[in-house]
Amino acid sequence: SSSKILIKGGTVVNAHREQVADVYVEDGIIVAVKPNIKVADDVTVLDATGKFVMPGGIDPHTHLAFDFMSTQTIDDFFSGQAAALAGGTTMHIDFVIPVNGSLTAGFEAYVKKAKKSCTDYGFHMAITKWDEVVSNEMEIMVKEKGINSFKFFLAYKGALMINDELLLEGFKKCKSLGALAMVHAENGDAVYEGQKRMIELGITGPEGHALSRPALVEGEATSRAIRLAGFVNTPLYVVHVMSIDAVEEIARARKTGQRVIGEPIAAGLALDESRIWDPDFVTAAKQESALLSFFVFVLFLPSNDFQPFQPDDLSYFRYVMSPPIRASGHDKALQAALSTGVLQDTLTFLQLVGTDHCSFNSTQKALGIDDFRKIPNGVNGIEERMHLVWDIMVEAGQISVTDYVRITSTECARIFNIYPRKGAILPGSDADIIIFNPNSSLEITAKSHHSRSDTNVYEGRKGKGKVEVTIAGGRIVWENDELKVVPGSGKYVEMQPFSYLFNGIEKLDAKYLSSLKAPVKRSKSTA
Ligand code: URP
Ligand code: ZN
Ligand code: ZN
Ligand code: ZN
Repeated sequence: SSSKILIKGGTVVNAHREQVADVYVEDGIIVAVKPNIKVADDVTVLDATGKFVMPGGIDPHTHLAFDFMSTQTIDDFFSGQAAALAGGTTMHIDFVIPVNGSLTAGFEAYVKKAKKSCTDYGFHMAITKWDEVVSNEMEIMVKEKGINSFKFFLAYKGALMINDELLLEGFKKCKSLGALAMVHAENGDAVYEGQKRMIELGITGPEGHALSRPALVEGEATSRAIRLAGFVNTPLYVVHVMSIDAVEEIARARKTGQRVIGEPIAAGLALDESRIWDPDFVTAAKQESALLSFFVFVLFLPSNDFQPFQPDDLSYFRYVMSPPIRASGHDKALQAALSTGVLQDTLTFLQLVGTDHCSFNSTQKALGIDDFRKIPNGVNGIEERMHLVWDIMVEAGQISVTDYVRITSTECARIFNIYPRKGAILPGSDADIIIFNPNSSLEITAKSHHSRSDTNVYEGRKGKGKVEVTIAGGRIVWENDELKVVPGSGKYVEMQPFSYLFNGIEKLDAKYLSSLKAPVKRSKSTA
């Protein structure tokens, strides 16, 4: 750790190009990026020959110290961020949840939670109810508190879920403030119906979770949110896109020029049901639930040969998240949508990768031992994202190294209006940098990860490429598999409204208004 660092001889990668160059850092800021920089003796020199020097990852979607489903996530703003740094992520954006509907109280609670931060962070805010007070608080959050995005949950009926009326009010408010609207797109009423069906069928184990909320439930909500955002003419960000159904809706909208951002998460790209369940078991459960509905609704006869999941092995519970991990095929579609049209990034249907890191340990997951509806939803990923995306997308030949930087860092910085302070290796940018060795390899395991959870959804997964050094705010915080993190050293990054996604939006409004005037004029002239 030093306030002056020279990174020598690496291939410096930005989203727009790569070049062999040295990077010189002083007091937390990148001062120079060019070949053969000469420095004095008091400078710490890191040799990056044969390695990539890239902007630290920015995770757009995390839940640290999140009070959720009768418990709190096992990772807080220190342990979650330490894990992030060990995995090459130097900034994350977390979701502030209002306290009893109060945005101000929610914000203050999160400011407290984030005091021990060891890496930079920003905030999105969830909107869970609607009235004058909330509407005014949104304005305060944007104008005074550095928040430029709001998340609306179309799922979690009875808890976080909102209806379409609130969604439309929220979209209008976001638009007037230049804030980005985000949606959790699953139809919460349909999920509720699906859960009732599973319970009626006697399926109470974790397999009931995914069976109760199939991809169509995600497709419907994604379609609805996109169309309503189009109706209001405001940009939309769809969080944790997990299915072909949702990708198709996003692709359709983007082809018409609508400003829709799709965020796949590491779990959706890297996992599918076959990695979790015994495939025969899933098939049996699906057939049986179809068969059972037939008997229950047509013949009123219960079936007796299907054995619901026996919770002798808690490891299945760890994969429960919403939207759920889906059948093989959805993962490939998400990967393809991230790489489509790489020559022109406006053509890609998904633009960046998050994690939705929302980690619980086995004891917490066991809260749903008798009823899958009580399993706290969420998986890990903040430490694994950079490695998984490299392995699945770059190592497998689906995208280039510059695209990798774009989808793990730069595009997130652009969308949330913090580029080029973040997401770039340029003079003047924050010194958040990783040195990545593409020839090294890594095995993911709970035995050595830095999350506080006792499990990891990627347990045993081996991959090519390794983050060897992480520099955050100009300090070496990860080197030789050692973390050197300081609680309280992370800074809150305020995010300003009206990102590039709002450019020219008023022209579309004007077009809409003039289309309304035409018939009025006609009726006057005939009078
Ligand atoms: O299962 C999940 N995704 N838990 C975190 C909350 C959310 O919906 O993002
Ligand atoms: Zn969500
Ligand atoms: Zn989330
Ligand atoms: Zn360690």
